[in-house]
Amino acid sequence: MSDEVNPWELLVLAEHAALEAARFIVERRPADLGVAETKSSPTDVVTEMDTGAEQLIRKAVLERRPDDAFLGEEGGADSGASGVRWVIDPIDGTVNYLYGLPAFAVSIGVEVGGTTVAGVVAAPRMGEVYTAVHGAGAWCNGAPVKVRPATGLGDALVATGFGYRAERRQRQGEIVRALLPQVRDIRRGGSAALDLCAVAAGRLDGYFERGTHAWDCSAGGLIATEAGAVVGGFHGAEAGEPMVIAAPRGTFTALHDALVALGADVPDY
Ligand code: IPD
Ligand code: CA
Repeated sequence: MSDEVNPWELLVLAEHAALEAARFIVERRPADLGVAETKSSPTDVVTEMDTGAEQLIRKAVLERRPDDAFLGEEGGADSGASGVRWVIDPIDGTVNYLYGLPAFAVSIGVEVGGTTVAGVVAAPRMGEVYTAVHGAGAWCNGAPVKVRPATGLGDALVATGFGYRAERRQRQGEIVRALLPQVRDIRRGGSAALDLCAVAAGRLDGYFERGTHAWDCSAGGLIATEAGAVVGGFHGAEAGEPMVIAAPRGTFTALHDALVALGADVPDY
């Protein structure tokens, strides 16, 4: 049954749901927005808006596709019979959102039979909506996006992110400290989805992070890939929780090898 699903139709629905959620989180953001709960550490926050936005997305999808499955940062996993799964981060960059910084986004990736075929990352305070369809390309506000030409590490502007647990952050800090003299500079934007979109749009030479979840990278990973990036993990592994590296091929290799030389591939953090 999943063979008959049209990725373009999934993209239209994903974009519709993402824009509805994006409007909700911007227009309904309480002036005194507070932290509703914390997750993996006291700084891994969820606001009432994260939860509300994910509910809106699920409702929009279920109205049209009642047999689909879901994996959401706030709502967890729900199975479905259609072979289509929606991977949702209702607000990626929650801490930016909480502090009034503009780099946050609604991220929705759509899988058919386990392959991500459509994705949308909507960043309402940046006025940008990134989209991609597997095998067809990636766009920002409807205009095609493309990665920068590959570069040596010394010329590379590289973004990364840090997890919420102190022990992981300590090791991530050590790796960044050792990498810093080898690259043009480092950025920490605060949204993995938007970091991947920035690679796609040629605003970064590369991005890497250990400890992201499927919902952080589902849509952004497709967008970066479709824009010409290699998106993967260490030693030929697929991108995933142990590591996501995204960059044009030559930059990917240089960044990958530098991280391995620093022992970032040893999973002790
Ligand atoms: C986080 C952001 C951040 C990344 C973290 C993610 P959240 O997602 O993407 O940039 O460094 O690993 O957990 O908590 O804002 O949805
Ligand atoms: Ca996230």
